[in-house]
Amino acid sequence: MAKDKAKGQQMWGGRFAAQPSDIMQSINASIDVDRRMVREDIAGSRAHADMLAEQGIITEADNQAIQTGLDQIVAEVQDGTFPYRVELEDIHMNVEARLKELIGEPAGRLHTARSRNDQVVTDFRLWTRGALTEAKRAIAGLQGALVKQAGAHADAVMPGFTHLQTAQPVTMGHHMLAYVEMLERDSSRLGDCAQRLNESPLGAAALAGTGFTIDRDMTAEALGFDRPMANSLDAVSARDFALEALAALSIAATHLSRLAEEIVLWSSAQFAFARLSDEWSTGSSIMPQKRNPDAAELIRAKASLIAGQYISLQGAVKALPLAYAKDLQDDKVLTFGAFDTFGLCVQAMTGMMQTITFNRETMRAAAAKGFSTATDLADYLVREMKMPFRDAHHVTGSLVVLAEKQGCDLPELSLSDMQSVEARLTNDVFSVLTVEASALSRQSYGGTSPIRVTEQVAQWTQRLGLESQS
Ligand code: ARG
Repeated sequence: MAKDKAKGQQMWGGRFAAQPSDIMQSINASIDVDRRMVREDIAGSRAHADMLAEQGIITEADNQAIQTGLDQIVAEVQDGTFPYRVELEDIHMNVEARLKELIGEPAGRLHTARSRNDQVVTDFRLWTRGALTEAKRAIAGLQGALVKQAGAHADAVMPGFTHLQTAQPVTMGHHMLAYVEMLERDSSRLGDCAQRLNESPLGAAALAGTGFTIDRDMTAEALGFDRPMANSLDAVSARDFALEALAALSIAATHLSRLAEEIVLWSSAQFAFARLSDEWSTGSSIMPQKRNPDAAELIRAKASLIAGQYISLQGAVKALPLAYAKDLQDDKVLTFGAFDTFGLCVQAMTGMMQTITFNRETMRAAAAKGFSTATDLADYLVREMKMPFRDAHHVTGSLVVLAEKQGCDLPELSLSDMQSVEARLTNDVFSVLTVEASALSRQSYGGTSPIRVTEQVAQWTQRLGLESQS
């Protein structure tokens, strides 16, 4: 951008004799980022102008001209002809300058009793509110895909792990629903954030409020905010709403990443629990047999990008004295980026989970390995022989050692082997050693039994407004 081309275009240029250097312009301009808030900026200006007219601060005729000019700008934005100009720095000055070109003098009255400091954060709160709603909607879509899989595999037994060591049999339905629960809390956190941020900074002006008799309730209401913010210094400098959104997104992305990690494991040849559809697999340029879970791996990586965006914004804010400082301009690139990345990850995860197929036989066989029903045996000794659990644990441990020595699993031990450790055992013991019996028995509330899973699936189906699967 040649300097003379920009000459005289800076709205704040009154006291300056020389134009900013090109590099100054490059570091200072935010239009490439904040143009995404053009609709919010126009909405804020409409509300502000209506209020100024209502309060008699500008004339109704000026307001009419402003509103008509803004209509024209909306149309230009819509059809892609709105001129975004880097020499005009940011979206606020781009809109105002265009308005001036369209309607002339009344445009200059729009900025009465307002500053870019309250304007930008009004736009940003509106944008974030919308993005939070969209993120919640996307999460609900993913929950729907998980609930469907949970319904289809309510009784599919797989190994449940602790320390990635076989622990106890669980059902795939139960496993899917664990993520549905996590995502529900994620959605709830985003909702809390949307609720808390819904206060209007507009009218705080530069930092101290204004001497004009503005009506902040009126603009707050027009923009769908619950109330005006009570402290003008806080209003222009607070960014905890964005931090909260990024923190909540980061936690949600962490959950996506954990599921992604499981997809990577499950779709390996060694696990072979699941197969991603062709749409969600990629090939290798050298190894023809490969079906790589790239999307899952990228979700794992991107969860860290989002966490980094949170940390970056926290770093930008933590040492800022009140009120506004230009550091705060970089809040938007971080926040927009985090929402974009999160949205992409949720969509990819939804696509994967809609089309993933599970290998029930392999999962069942894996569940039967690693003495997975040892706890069931110990519980049996407690229940049937009235043994204290600690003793039962010990007896079962000895049986596991025996099976290990024989290179077999617990159900393959003979009754006499069993009796060599605990003489009172009968053939009845074998009934608790199958993986199906184990899973079926865990009917405590929140347990893995297909009975409980089916109930939960029914509740989630209703809660999410999904088509019933029966
Ligand atoms: N583009 C700026 C931002 O995003 C708008 C506020 C500028 N305010 C100022 N006092 N320079 O933060």
